[in-house]
Amino acid sequence: MKATAKAHTNIALIKYWGKRDESLILPTNSSLSLTLDGFYTTTTVDFQEGLMQDRFLLDDQPVEGDAYHRVTQFLNLIRRLAGREDLYANVRSINAVPTAAGLASSASGFAALAAAGTKAIGLELNDQELSRLTRQGSGSASRSIYGGFSEWQMGSEEDGSDSFAVPIASAEHWDVRVAAVVLSSRVKKVSSRAGMKRTVETSPFYPGWIDSISKDLKEIKAAIHTKDFEKTGQIAEANCLKMHATTLAADPPFTYWNDLTMRVMQTVQEMRANGIPVYFTIDAGPNVKVLYLPEHEKSVEKTLREIPGVTDVILSKPGQGISYL
Ligand code: DP6
Repeated sequence: MKATAKAHTNIALIKYWGKRDESLILPTNSSLSLTLDGFYTTTTVDFQEGLMQDRFLLDDQPVEGDAYHRVTQFLNLIRRLAGREDLYANVRSINAVPTAAGLASSASGFAALAAAGTKAIGLELNDQELSRLTRQGSGSASRSIYGGFSEWQMGSEEDGSDSFAVPIASAEHWDVRVAAVVLSSRVKKVSSRAGMKRTVETSPFYPGWIDSISKDLKEIKAAIHTKDFEKTGQIAEANCLKMHATTLAADPPFTYWNDLTMRVMQTVQEMRANGIPVYFTIDAGPNVKVLYLPEHEKSVEKTLREIPGVTDVILSKPGQGISYL
């Protein structure tokens, strides 16, 4: 009972930032992302009779501790759904996500695990059912089921039955590119899970964040449909800044930015002042992702690479949804 699946990571243009239910992973706001072809995980799940426990190899290294626990917990959901709680699995994942790029490998990781695991155990889920299940591994992973642009609809049901991602526009609809700017210095890591929890619980800016989401979502969807790059970029950049502002008001306060993060943000704004339409977004880490159009790829890459402290710039096109190998 073996299957292999591939899933790409995604970058949120409207961020998921906060949970209303931590164990079911139900968000306090809907979010929207672009799936990226440059960053993916390939996972093989092999359920076998006679195994006494799950085994998880990541890039050929056995994984233990927290990451192992999250994988077995997620396999428990799959086993329960299939009525096969007697089966354990060998799981083997290969990440083509340079971890230094700070692009959440949990998104491609849990999407690939969900797709391979359900297929291996003989469940036939449609995309919506798969997205809903994947959400319970990692929230942002629910959006990686689809290629191109997708929206994770927060839903309102207590059991999470209406909280899953839906496709907004395919990878072929619009060739928007993303440069992941890798920085040499790091800040002390607050995981996205811990960061969003502290923000929801303590930041007086949090209600303002929530109030602004529906307008951002409505406007960015319209801009994506009409391929209005300036509008899409403006909304994404402003939404990112709002999310990061909530962390500054948390108790204790924190930020994911460092001096180099600020420097890249300023360079992006300078490029814009010089007539090149580029916009940034940042997740729960110091690295910056820059949105641009194909015709500006050369100049954007060159300018970003010239910033002192930038160690790498990884370019990506829109990517496809999950596939089975
Ligand atoms: C800032 O999906 O990693 O990247 O659901 O706790 O696993 P968990 O969190 P995760 O959070 C991602 C937060 C973000 C924004 C986003 O991707 O929407």
